[in-house]
Amino acid sequence: MALIEMIGVRKTYRTDGLELHAFSTDRLEIDRGEFVCIAGPSGSGKTTILNLIGAIDFPTAGSVTVAGRKTRGLSPADAAKMRRDHIGFIFQSYNLIPVLTAYENVEYVLLLKGLPAPERRRKVSEALASVGLKDMMQKLPKEMSGGQQQRVAVARAIVASPPIVLADEPTANLDSVTGRDLVGLLHRLNLEQGTTFVFSSHDPVIIEHADRVITLQDGRVANDRRC
Ligand SMILES: Nc1ncnc2c1ncn2[C@@H]1O[C@H](COP(=O)(O)OP(=O)(O)OP(=O)(O)O)[C@@H](O)[C@H]1O
Ligand SMILES: [Mg+2]
Repeated sequence: MALIEMIGVRKTYRTDGLELHAFSTDRLEIDRGEFVCIAGPSGSGKTTILNLIGAIDFPTAGSVTVAGRKTRGLSPADAAKMRRDHIGFIFQSYNLIPVLTAYENVEYVLLLKGLPAPERRRKVSEALASVGLKDMMQKLPKEMSGGQQQRVAVARAIVASPPIVLADEPTANLDSVTGRDLVGLLHRLNLEQGTTFVFSSHDPVIIEHADRVITLQDGRVANDRRC
């Protein structure tokens, strides 16, 4: 069984009595260890796919199965537990907590998991070192550049070693050199730790680095190619 399976999925949104088709697929599978980029124009359904995989949103019809568990029908508490145990999120806008230092932002994930202090210290230091921020642990987000903040967000997403990392346009707010460095970093984590990465991007430089590119058009898979 694939790590991520979407079968007969249809996702629609209802606004002002109108039904809007956001994404559908007969079958889409992503295996453990893949480094996948979801590409496609604005409004084509990229964020919708990531939200469906991340149990942030649920299909209108069909099933999304992640690590052997169907997301539909999960209680809010079970969906939260699934996200905590299986998924790291990287958002376009970083979503760091402004009053916490880089260290505390990353540690927060491990506090939620109830890890003891010595283990937290070790894992947070390792995660921040792996993104090249060993010397910035005590900085607040506002004292860091966009690229540095995004790397804190990466450290936060990987600190608990989740099997899946979802990243929604992680490079959109970065200059092209920083963006390329970030994707290189994610790729290294993918190769070294076997983490499955699914990210969305319309940045051609980023798309170039992916092992598989799923291109969406009007909420459907228009192209699915391994590179
Ligand atoms: N919560 C929502 N309510 C209603 N419609 C929505 C909602 N979220 C997304 N949509 C619609 O679903 C479609 C797909 O949106 P989605 O956010 O997945 O696109 P996207 O490919 O991520 O676009 P972008 O590149 O601009 O981020 C769009 O037409 C959008 O307007
Ligand atoms: Mg989007």
